[in-house]
Amino acid sequence: MTEEKIRKKVREGYAKVAQQQQSCCGPSSTCCDSVNTADALAQKVGYSEQDIASAPEGANLGLGCGNPVALASLQQGETVLDLGSGPGFDCFLAAQRVGITGHVIGVDMTPEMIAKARENAQKGSYTTVEFRLGEIEHLPVADSSVDAIISNCVINLSLDKPQVFREAFRVLRDGGRLMISDTVLLKPLPEFIQKSVAAYVGCVSGAMRKQDYIDAIKKTGFKDVQILKETPFSLDCRVSDPTAQAIVNDFNLSGEKLKELEGSIASIQLTGIKRS
Ligand SMILES: C[S@@+](CC[C@H](N)C(=O)[O-])C[C@H]1O[C@@H](n2cnc3c(N)ncnc32)[C@H](O)[C@@H]1O
Repeated sequence: MTEEKIRKKVREGYAKVAQQQQSCCGPSSTCCDSVNTADALAQKVGYSEQDIASAPEGANLGLGCGNPVALASLQQGETVLDLGSGPGFDCFLAAQRVGITGHVIGVDMTPEMIAKARENAQKGSYTTVEFRLGEIEHLPVADSSVDAIISNCVINLSLDKPQVFREAFRVLRDGGRLMISDTVLLKPLPEFIQKSVAAYVGCVSGAMRKQDYIDAIKKTGFKDVQILKETPFSLDCRVSDPTAQAIVNDFNLSGEKLKELEGSIASIQLTGIKRS
């Protein structure tokens, strides 16, 4: 499949998520045993009940694999950029931290997600947050204009991750911070999963090897690149998710094979600084 076709599949997958409020990277009710599974997942990956309650309804679709806002030490008046902002959950939390003098920009390539995020901003009267349609490999953002970049479970979906890091570096001011939650590979995935488009859209087979990911960020010029937290990635929590279901059903994965697959992936929280 060509890169353009994969990108189209990713866009279609997340358009469906935006419209149906289904999770692609999140867990299912079977595992989390909760009426609101998106909230249960959000708590599991590091958001507080207060974070969840404070965002407009529908902003948290349980798509994240960490809480980059918690790491970003955001200050009043700062400009924050969210790469792959989805329905806007992290943007709204960031807006609360940077206050009325701050500015938050969410960028996402899926028009349905942008529409949903804008609707959510209006619902919550978030006047300092804006959502721009665009690709994170070609950010619609000016050079050296951002204090902090956050991103949650998105860069694994990019077909050109080094280009995403170069763009992040370009738009950050000197001293600007990068705070990423993402999936990475700890060991190679079985070949059938590597080739699965469903697994790509589900934040699995697009993931880069952990060390390559860190090296790519360092090569861009970021300093103090560190993994702050690493947690196992659980497909177990995703058996009612259409993407995870496709992975499990299409490949007839036994419990053992699932465990092996899960052991190949981790969620990381990573930070870096642009410093000249
Ligand atoms: C797993 S969701 C995460 C959404 C959001 N960060 C959250 O935690 O709720 C991935 C999002 O990234 C977007 N996306 C994927 N690849 C992208 C790219 N290359 N450029 C811009 N957005 C992208 C998708 O449209 C989708 O909204």
